[in-house]
Amino acid sequence: MTAKIISGKEIAQQIREELRQEIAELKAKHKLVPGLVTVLVGADPASQVYVGQKEKTSTELGIYSERIDLPEKTAQNELMALIDRLNKDPKIHGILVQLPLPKHLDETAVLYAINPKKDVDGFHPVNVGKLMIGEPDYLPCTPHGIQQLLVRSGVQIEGAEVVVVGRSNIVGKPIANILLQKRPGANATVTVCHTGTRDISFHTRRADILIVAAGRPNAVTADMVKEGVVVIDVGVNEVGKTPDGKRILAGDVDFEGVKEKASAITPVPGGVGPMTITMLMYNTVRAAKLAAGLA
Ligand code: GUN
Repeated sequence: MTAKIISGKEIAQQIREELRQEIAELKAKHKLVPGLVTVLVGADPASQVYVGQKEKTSTELGIYSERIDLPEKTAQNELMALIDRLNKDPKIHGILVQLPLPKHLDETAVLYAINPKKDVDGFHPVNVGKLMIGEPDYLPCTPHGIQQLLVRSGVQIEGAEVVVVGRSNIVGKPIANILLQKRPGANATVTVCHTGTRDISFHTRRADILIVAAGRPNAVTADMVKEGVVVIDVGVNEVGKTPDGKRILAGDVDFEGVKEKASAITPVPGGVGPMTITMLMYNTVRAAKLAAGLA
């Protein structure tokens, strides 16, 4: 079997088209313009690329977009004061503080300070807790994007054996929680593997759907999967540079080997990546609707 390639690029485009229409309608019918602010502290090159993409995509879709760049040496109290101001700004429905923050800043304190109603990342403990009890306002963007890739590719999730490799707060734990919910597009049996797992292959070979967010290349190879598995590769690893200095990216899965056994697989780049930004736009629209009493 050679796998069908699940194109995150195409599915993201589809969702963006739906959002563009919804945003136009919110403007026409309710004079409501969803607003997103992205905050970047310091000059990390990868973060600059991500924030640039978020700003560009939101503007393209008709979202009001602000970008705030702060110097590396910004003090905690300055950042907290900015978040306080943004929490109170009625034009702004979503606040995204790009992570990681410089080491001298307290990331947890910053995430706690964002008004949960404007927490379009879904990282505030209130939103993490709401997801945990099955009453989410916002799903975190990358896991929500993964669920959409599966649903829109026609993958049977209900009743499936899902194995997640990685237990991070931004991917592993939330995707496990999302697919565990008793609702359509979920209701799976979920296993989460991590660095403390005794025999990862034992679990990955049982998976109907395998979601890999391990943070290292070749964490999953062909011998670790069964025929017909659906593989979602969340990894973004820089494995080299082109002669003109562009980053060469690889996922966490040995794509060439695994695609011979899988029924479907996401590529890197062009798989999960475009979905993350798209679901941020989705959350921003949702935040605006919630604030206006329209959701
Ligand atoms: N850094 C890497 N991924 C993310 C994300 O989804 N949100 C934020 N705020 N920072 C990130």
